[in-house]
Amino acid sequence: MEQLNSQMIQDAAAYISSKSSILPEVGLILGSGLGVLAELIEEGVSIPYEDIPHFPVSTVEGHEGELLLGTIKGRPVVMMKGRFHMYEGYGPEVTAFPVRVMKELGVKSLLVTNAAGGVNKEFEPGDLMLITDHLNLTGTNPLIGRNDAALGVRFPDMSEAYSQRLRKIAKNTAKSRGSKLKKGVYAGLLGPSYETPAEIVMLRTLGADAVGMSTVSEVIVARHAGIEVLGITCITNMASGILDQPLSHNEVMETAERVREKFLGLVVDLIPQM
Ligand code: HPA
Repeated sequence: MEQLNSQMIQDAAAYISSKSSILPEVGLILGSGLGVLAELIEEGVSIPYEDIPHFPVSTVEGHEGELLLGTIKGRPVVMMKGRFHMYEGYGPEVTAFPVRVMKELGVKSLLVTNAAGGVNKEFEPGDLMLITDHLNLTGTNPLIGRNDAALGVRFPDMSEAYSQRLRKIAKNTAKSRGSKLKKGVYAGLLGPSYETPAEIVMLRTLGADAVGMSTVSEVIVARHAGIEVLGITCITNMASGILDQPLSHNEVMETAERVREKFLGLVVDLIPQM
């Protein structure tokens, strides 16, 4: 892959703008098995990733590849149905490229969702967790390389990666819906192998409540770009070594499917407030 540059961001944004007159204010990134949230979009236009200049193409089963533009409860949104992961072989800056494009399209706030293993033993599969902070344990960073000052500062602040304001809104919204929302720290690892039990003990010691293979690069780029972030995790399984059973992608997909109504309802209520 060539070095990403602002021309590429503009090319991608220009193509997307040529397909829809929507001026999105809110960006959404949907994780494993959560692509069904795309059903929420009204007057939507769908653009396959492969048609968008410089967009990578997602390669994993259960991860779809299209960008949707439309409105949710009247709010103009751009939604990624399917995201890019480093374990697919993409660099962190490539996985976060769509966030750059969202910024170019006018996005001010971003809702990231993902599927993750529960590291916190008080969690149960099917729980939704508000991300309060993350641990970037991928060993890399999407901002490595020359910094384009037009995109953001060299050393961006990460002290409020996940917006306090949006977290408060999410908490209140879940409460008024009568649905439980756990909260915690998301540890982002490279994958694609699931963790060993020893690694889960390590992660718990480090302060993680959930573990997954996405999100951290996207959030770093969003913060670099001055986008406000809200993150919600679906705990799809207990992390390795907690239960006496192996982990499988099927379990992840099944749990995501099981909680979709709950997840969907929360997201729909959140979008207009973001
Ligand atoms: N580990 C890492 N990523 C995941 C998991 C997990 O247990 N579940 C869903 N994504």
